[in-house]
Amino acid sequence: MRRRISMLAGAAVLSLTLAACGGSGSSPSADEANPAEATGEVGVFTWWADGSEKAGLDALVKIFNDQYPDLKFDNLAVAGGAGSQAKSVLAAQLQAGNPPDSFQAHAGAELQDYIVADQLEDLSSFYESEDLTSVFPKDLLDRLTVDGKIYSVPSNIHRANVVWANVEVLEKAGLDPEKPPADLDEWFAAMDKIKATGVTPLAVAGTWTQVQLFENIMLATLGAEGYNGLWDGSTDWSSAEVTKGIENYKKALSYTNSDRNTLSDWGPATQLVEDGSAAYNVMGDWAEAKFQQDGMVAGEDYVYFPTPGTEGVFDFLADSFTLPAGAPNPAGAKAWLKTISSVEGQEAFNAAKGSIPARTDVPTDNFSEYQKSAIEDFSSDTIVSSLAHGAAVPISWLNELSTAVSKFEGTGDVDALQKSAASIAEKFSQ
Ligand code: BGC
Repeated sequence: MRRRISMLAGAAVLSLTLAACGGSGSSPSADEANPAEATGEVGVFTWWADGSEKAGLDALVKIFNDQYPDLKFDNLAVAGGAGSQAKSVLAAQLQAGNPPDSFQAHAGAELQDYIVADQLEDLSSFYESEDLTSVFPKDLLDRLTVDGKIYSVPSNIHRANVVWANVEVLEKAGLDPEKPPADLDEWFAAMDKIKATGVTPLAVAGTWTQVQLFENIMLATLGAEGYNGLWDGSTDWSSAEVTKGIENYKKALSYTNSDRNTLSDWGPATQLVEDGSAAYNVMGDWAEAKFQQDGMVAGEDYVYFPTPGTEGVFDFLADSFTLPAGAPNPAGAKAWLKTISSVEGQEAFNAAKGSIPARTDVPTDNFSEYQKSAIEDFSSDTIVSSLAHGAAVPISWLNELSTAVSKFEGTGDVDALQKSAASIAEKFSQ
């Protein structure tokens, strides 16, 4: 694990889209900032700007307001799922030396980008004073750590390899909603049946959701080890297995709604399943929060299962919060981080967000059945890192691969995508 992280950190050095300026390293003021003495506004940057994501943020802010009645939460959210708009806005702000008090970042390679660019304060002493090292899973802490220093506080764990399906649409096509397809071939056969009923088999939206679908299909085709190898260099991007994966992705894409690029984000794609205008949507489990918020009943209106061919694998990502170098209100930022890391904060936030708590000691009685099953799976499945959500590769690698996947949406040229992906991997692995 440590070896993988340093490889990715090395890749990040070569490839920073986030210029290495603005970071002042660990300033005594940040280390000494005392949350108990915090005053004023705390500006927090996320991409949880609307719908169920905003509801999750609101639940967290409510706890923050209860715990720190004298502080004012300043919501700096920039809309766009998966941070598709927010990350470049944030990069510009960091580059200009204008950081927020805290910002959302994915655990793993994405966080390494900011660390390597010297844009984050080391939170090791915060972890010590709050006694946090024992309350998060070690795998997760490893993804927040570089050279023994830990740089962010995780709020949650999401899963990116889940299919959400409309029960009525499946039944009309003669499919049993309780029996998910065992592999990609069975799933494609089911989608042929759905197509014959005149309903779109698979809902997807614009580029980042296509990248997430691509990641799922590669995982299903290559298995956990082969998929991991795409990011650590042990799987050859030019191999026949990868060709097969891209061909499978092409087939999956052929079942999707033709207006995919005009759907503004993941919400409208998931909505197609809620409305019965599409059968399936491959989406991270923030979709569970939307189904719940919209009053849909699991087992009756919708069902969920791991993307066929990925059973037993948990495609992991986690949101975490940072203390940027040069944050205007470091004491306020630490108060925010205390709320995030608290049992109450993790319980309220995750119950509303569809994710599972990063802490392992949070009461989950009022969590949905889906969330309870995700907690179970996270403890027993093989964990792999999500591509589309910052866990597997640095931001610059993801951006270039996303451009190639987006081009493929128009051309369907398997060979061209494979060659581009191979040369991108080579560039960033050096
Ligand atoms: C974030 C989730 C968010 C999802 C869709 C992911 O990258 O980790 O918290 O719900 O994007 O915006």
